[in-house]
Amino acid sequence: MQTSQLASSPVASRAAPAWKRIDRDACARRIARAIKKLSAPPFTSGSAGVTRYAFTEAYMLALGYLSDQLNDLGFAVKLDPVGNLIARNCPSSSAAVGLGSHCDSVRGGGSYDGTLGVLAAIEVARLSYEQGYDLPLQVISWVEEEASGFGEMLLGSRLATGWIDERALRTKVRSLDDGQSFFDHAREAGLEPERASEASSAIENLTAWIELHIEQGRVLEDAGEQFGVVEAIAGYVHADIEIHGQPDHAGATPMGLRRDAAIVAAQFMLELERLAIEAAGGSVATVGEITLDPGAINIIPGRARLSLDVRAPIDTTVSSIIEKATTTADELALSRGLQAIYRERQRMPSAALAPTVVKAIERSVEATGAPWRRMMSGAAHDTMCIASHVPSAMLFVPCRHGISHSPREYASPADAALGVEVLLNTVMELSKPGGSR
Ligand code: GLV
Ligand code: MN
Ligand code: MN
Repeated sequence: MQTSQLASSPVASRAAPAWKRIDRDACARRIARAIKKLSAPPFTSGSAGVTRYAFTEAYMLALGYLSDQLNDLGFAVKLDPVGNLIARNCPSSSAAVGLGSHCDSVRGGGSYDGTLGVLAAIEVARLSYEQGYDLPLQVISWVEEEASGFGEMLLGSRLATGWIDERALRTKVRSLDDGQSFFDHAREAGLEPERASEASSAIENLTAWIELHIEQGRVLEDAGEQFGVVEAIAGYVHADIEIHGQPDHAGATPMGLRRDAAIVAAQFMLELERLAIEAAGGSVATVGEITLDPGAINIIPGRARLSLDVRAPIDTTVSSIIEKATTTADELALSRGLQAIYRERQRMPSAALAPTVVKAIERSVEATGAPWRRMMSGAAHDTMCIASHVPSAMLFVPCRHGISHSPREYASPADAALGVEVLLNTVMELSKPGGSR
């Protein structure tokens, strides 16, 4: 796909007379510069790829960098009591269109997942400010979308919708590094998590919410398409399976007398793969974390913990895979005299996005003259929470070879700039009286 050619050529042939064409090259240069800056120390704490999760120094500095930019564009910027960055260029009591994403990353991740959506939102804010469009905007960078700091995805947006509360922040949601609660870490960062219920104000007075994001798949690239307009997001279950056996001597215990938790774990993983393939229809299942206890070369593992990530476009399919997986784990464990325990971390239903906002984005992508499609997202996004309260949709731009959650993640700044032009024009349409209906 010759996307950079497309982005610098005058493609807006189907555009309505009111269409605002931006300086795409300048926008692409600004995005590339910011991505480069945020991909290097001190804005990442890892050496391979980007590692940035809630309340780390890298994360707080990234928030500072984004806040400075928004301040310069006339926005009032604040961190809410749990750490969501909220920036407004109009009074909080008046209606605005919400734009943004998240700036945390998975550990050893890429430069674009989330961060590109926040930078695109800031570009729309900049254009509105510099060109005098005066669009009522609220830019948000949601805290801890990726689960990389505290093991739970979509924390900031789930707090905003009330799907998780202060109690969970004090007890259940704990740092993967030091076991301390999210609550305590938030307080150490100068926040007031005891006021977590006030996070709901992030989604008050929003007439619409749009998140620009890299696709994280290769549908657009393979089809030579420039945009995906997202109409639905797959649901998921995150859980752990613990296999309890008997730690024993690796040399002295005959093969027939072992209760080895690692063997059951290995069998389970193959069965899980089979269950997801069998369920088909876009179902996926992943074991991303494995821990063996006590974890020594000469000890038969007495305990294994496997994380479970199961997703599908249809919620009953997710439930069915989880049900079969837990039964399978029980049977596999029992057949060797072990025990399996299932613990659910989080369950998110799939989300249908708002037809009004989907259509508004579609009118804009159509106006660019570039090829596009309507699609669903297999990856999770804060938008799946926001959509329950605010008419919401997403705009996908291609990412190279579909690779994401990897240091090899790449999206062309030119594609992103064209995405900014689409966002800007969509916000203009939605901001007209009655525009978001
Ligand atoms: C979020 O990045 C996810 O895992 O879907
Ligand atoms: Mn993301
Ligand atoms: Mn991600």
